[in-house]
Amino acid sequence: MRGLYLSSTVLFWLAVAGLWHAAEAPPEPAINPPSPAEAPASPGRYSTGDVARHGLAEDCWMIIAGEVYDVSSYIPDHPTDPEILLPWCGRDASEAYRTKGKGRSHSAYADRQLAQYRIGTLRSP
Ligand code: HEM
Repeated sequence: MRGLYLSSTVLFWLAVAGLWHAAEAPPEPAINPPSPAEAPASPGRYSTGDVARHGLAEDCWMIIAGEVYDVSSYIPDHPTDPEILLPWCGRDASEAYRTKGKGRSHSAYADRQLAQYRIGTLRSP
């Protein structure tokens, strides 16, 4: 009887200690929490500064008529030499797109192509 009393007392206090420890344990950190530097202030809304950070041939964003496009994967498909597009990576290319650099607008087909690369809208800085 005494043995039963002792073992149930020990079990009781072990359970209390376990619960105490669980309550004290710090919360598990989130897996890969977004760092403030990486997380965009508002997804899909970019400043000219955000766009300027994507000014490379392999990472090429453009602003065209207030919308933001990631045209990186399109550059090799554009019917001209890539050199025509590259100066506009990371910049506002509205005028260049509107005139093709020679006062003629892109076709409706080109507009449909362009729409597929839209990633967001320009926001004020
Ligand atoms: C932003 C700078 C750009 C410039 C300066 C530019 C310039 C040009 C030029 C010189 C041509 C060939 C000549 C001609 O058709 O008259 C052309 C054709 C074309 N471009 Fe661009 N382009 C630009 C961006 C884009 C983008 C971002 C797209 C689509 C995502 C695009 C789609 C096309 C298409 C489909 C054609 C064939 C002709 C047409 O359908 O209008 N271009 N572009």
